[in-house]
Amino acid sequence: RALRRYLSLDDFEATARRRLPKFLYGYISGGAETDAAVRDNRKAFDEYGFVPRVLNDVSGRDQTTTLFGKTYASPFGIPPMGSSALCAYRGDIVLTRAAAAMNLPMILSASSLITLEDVKRANPDAWYQAYLAGVPSRIEPMVDRVAAAGYDTFVVTADVPVPPNRENNVRNGFQVPLAITPRVFWDTITHPHWLFGTWARTLMNHGMPHFENMDAKQGPPVLSKNLMRNIGHRDQLSWKHVELIRKRWKGKLVVKGLISPQDARIARESGVDGVMVSNHGGRQLDCTVSALRMLPEISAEAHGMTVMLDGGIRRGTDVIKALALGADFVFVGRPLLYAAVAGGEAGVTRALTLLKDEIDRDLALLGIRKISEITPDLVRRF
Ligand code: FNR
Repeated sequence: RALRRYLSLDDFEATARRRLPKFLYGYISGGAETDAAVRDNRKAFDEYGFVPRVLNDVSGRDQTTTLFGKTYASPFGIPPMGSSALCAYRGDIVLTRAAAAMNLPMILSASSLITLEDVKRANPDAWYQAYLAGVPSRIEPMVDRVAAAGYDTFVVTADVPVPPNRENNVRNGFQVPLAITPRVFWDTITHPHWLFGTWARTLMNHGMPHFENMDAKQGPPVLSKNLMRNIGHRDQLSWKHVELIRKRWKGKLVVKGLISPQDARIARESGVDGVMVSNHGGRQLDCTVSALRMLPEISAEAHGMTVMLDGGIRRGTDVIKALALGADFVFVGRPLLYAAVAGGEAGVTRALTLLKDEIDRDLALLGIRKISEITPDLVRRF
């Protein structure tokens, strides 16, 4: 019942901000350097408005959307978010269960702290997102592990050749390797909800969290000094590795984190099934333009390849704008992690339901009944 006071996706942030240590709230909310890319993700949506149609019979509305042969309840899902289980107790499980219960897709991050096998048990439809070194002898066993666990969709994140420059993390003492400095210690003990509800509870029930899914083997614990070793050679990753994965991976293959239409064309030529147009929530290269701005050009390059988008989606109206400009499907990041912090699985369900209800209302107000009726002439750029 307490969740009824959350009326929109943005409402979850204040609770998460209060409950989380500053270093974790900063980790979720922040972007790289000046946050220009984060801001552009919102600005781009605000530059479009609607041209609704009226007096169409809009009863019997239906927002189901088919993606890679599966019909989902709505045209949105949950993108990969690393260290979710450090922010909310069993965060990845919470997110994936809420998605499964609502028949929406959820992507597990390579830098998650719960094994991909456990997540698959909690949600047989979960997708896996990889962070890969450009080294075939490390890529191949990872692909095989994901296949053995029964995953159908493999997402390669392409926009992380080097770690980003997120100054807020450094200022708050959230560094790799994580170190318990006096500042971090103070930050945690002044946030008892997180300290007892997430951290102590995790240690008690599951032991020290490890990065479970970066490599074919278990990775280092979150407090490890060896963490950097695991992310070595990412700057060598190239399209030739995508082609190698394409040969080995029988399921759907997605490249996430491209922005350029040229890269979308290369993705299609490499046999990729879908691209996720994304600037990583503004968390990698600062000043990268919003995915929404590049969407029309990228969908012109798609020729049948599935085009997904993320970054800045907070409302049903944003989902519809992205679909009108050429996306087949979208993903919503930060608000759902805040919802997990604020209300666990019920919080995420509340957030997903709010977004779904907004889309239903918006379809009616736009004078349409189905997702396939969302066309470019429903939006205008200011
Ligand atoms: C991310 N993102 C991300 N992407 C990815 O491919 N692998 C990852 O491990 C992560 N980790 C991660 C952690 C956190 C805390 C956030 C907020 C984001 C990026 C994510 O998948 C997505 O692209 C953006 O979050 C979408 O933007 P919004 O909806 O958060 O604005």
